[in-house]
Amino acid sequence: MPTTKNSSDVILEVNNLHVTFTTHGGEVKAVRGVSFTLGKGETLAIVGESGCGKSVTARSMTRLLPEHTSKISQGSIRFKGRELTKLSEKQLRELRGSEISMIFQDAMTALNPTISIGEQIMEGIIRHQRISRVEARKQAIEMLGLVGISNPEMRLKQYLHEFSGGMRQRMMIAIAAVCKPSVLIADEPTTALDVTIQAQILELFKMLQKKTGVSIILITHDLGVVANMADRVNVMYAGKVVESGTVDELFRHPQHPYTKGLLASMPRLDTDKSLPLTPIAGTPPDLFAPPQGCAFAARCSYAMEVCGAFQPEQTAVSASHSVACWLQDPRAKLVFRPPSKSNIMTAQG
Ligand SMILES: Nc1ncnc2c1ncn2[C@@H]1O[C@H](COP(=O)(O)OP(=O)(O)OP(=O)(O)O)[C@@H](O)[C@H]1O
Ligand code: SF4
Ligand SMILES: [Mg+2]
Repeated sequence: MPTTKNSSDVILEVNNLHVTFTTHGGEVKAVRGVSFTLGKGETLAIVGESGCGKSVTARSMTRLLPEHTSKISQGSIRFKGRELTKLSEKQLRELRGSEISMIFQDAMTALNPTISIGEQIMEGIIRHQRISRVEARKQAIEMLGLVGISNPEMRLKQYLHEFSGGMRQRMMIAIAAVCKPSVLIADEPTTALDVTIQAQILELFKMLQKKTGVSIILITHDLGVVANMADRVNVMYAGKVVESGTVDELFRHPQHPYTKGLLASMPRLDTDKSLPLTPIAGTPPDLFAPPQGCAFAARCSYAMEVCGAFQPEQTAVSASHSVACWLQDPRAKLVFRPPSKSNIMTAQG
């Protein structure tokens, strides 16, 4: 598992996480052996196509998953040395907001539109800090000011529908950050916003991080946002992390054919707008019955015989960069007979 941090700096360590959902159609294997670390004050981006398991991975950290139909079937999540997969619902409630907070795309569904902003922000403060309402109100006003809400005393009495989209995101960030959690998990926090407001919200994250040292897990479809915000990136595909590295490593030296495909299919800050983006042909596999070998094989123009038979394991490219692809694994030729000459040429091309 690559990391750019000393082990003492690691605040969150996820190891071989598997999450399944029981549905009428069978068991969805949504997350299939995800491992990563998050350093103190670090921003880790998670990217990948829709349905690859970004949100389920994120929600697993504080088990914000449907209680009766979801299961962490394997793996561990260690936060400041505590094993989170073993916590009771009561312990998780204490952890959420005070230690690990989540921010979602849509404040209207994530927050309660029938309770005033003041009550919602103060509720968390009183629950986690056990302080008086007067003191909680003071902290709430300070926090709203910090996230750029003018006239916070008056705003406390208002309801969500009285704010613009950008303001609502600021409110959600204020509620998430008010108890000074160590980790903020933001699941597409700016996707619904226009570009100018998006930039302001991203600046707000940066400011909060600078001020409090909070670690951030940022889920986004936007590689421009990744380039602007993240230290490291996990690329997910079909419930697995297929490549992980620093922003520079992933953008400049992508190794996995899927990462290369994503880079070609998603706009970036440095994308030449005159060149067309190339979507990745095909669709992700069915997570009810994931393929036996590499999940990307059906869409991969480099696929070799070994790819269909065995799942590739993580291979280190550098101390901070790893990839799960047989092309990078020296054992590929030992596992199966060597690929045909034409495949070798394709693989290196
Ligand atoms: N409550 C649920 N019940 C059954 N399956 C679920 C549930 N939530 C998620 N899944 C499945 O788990 C897989 C991963 O979903 P997830 O929401 O993590 O994707 P994602 O990467 O966040 O996608 P997006 O970019 O669209 O938000 C998908 O196949 C999804 O259909
Ligand atoms: S393991 Fe094989 S199929 Fe999968 S991405 Fe690598 S080359 Fe393609
Ligand atoms: Mg999602």
